[in-house]
Amino acid sequence: MVCRVVVLVSGTGTLLQSLLEAGAEPGAEFLVVAVGSERADAFGLERAKRAGVPSFVVPMLTDRAEWDRRLTAATAEHHPDLIVSAGFMKLVGPAFLARFGGRFINSHPALLPSFPGMHGVRDALAAGVKVSGTTIFMVDEGVDTGRILAQRAVDVRPDDTEATLHERIKVVERELLVQVVTELAKESHV
Ligand code: GRF
Repeated sequence: MVCRVVVLVSGTGTLLQSLLEAGAEPGAEFLVVAVGSERADAFGLERAKRAGVPSFVVPMLTDRAEWDRRLTAATAEHHPDLIVSAGFMKLVGPAFLARFGGRFINSHPALLPSFPGMHGVRDALAAGVKVSGTTIFMVDEGVDTGRILAQRAVDVRPDDTEATLHERIKVVERELLVQVVTELAKESHV
């Protein structure tokens, strides 16, 4: 049985695109069955549409617990084996983690545990590190604190800006994410 993957996005969704393409390859270990977002204008939703994959939007609410329950229910409708946060910029809450903990992974554009949070690339540059990279990890209740599954390093160049460094990290991030999802998918049907 192929591993059913739901991907959550907030932005342009280039990581999502890599997963959509890899999952559509003949003999792929996984399939992206739905894409979710908290933003109706996330370009990732358009990518899902173009790939013929269903999508759902759960707009953020002032009642965060209610939002968390709605996100959990909307995700559960697609019966995922694995959920991937691919540039999803919101922290999920207890309901989501109770249901999907241990099968919800995230990708971060820095080498955790260094530079967690929203500005991993900017913070790494500001610290003057010569090497940064990407981390794929299992999401827990903390901010980028979950168990590390894989990491890959990217050299920082002297003339790097946040944008140039982030772009180079994302090239590596896309490949690593597909690799980790493939490995987890294999494990999920042994
Ligand atoms: C990635 O670098 C991810 O780690 C970060 O946001 C970026 C998403 O890029 N949280 P995209 O929207 O998939 O292009």
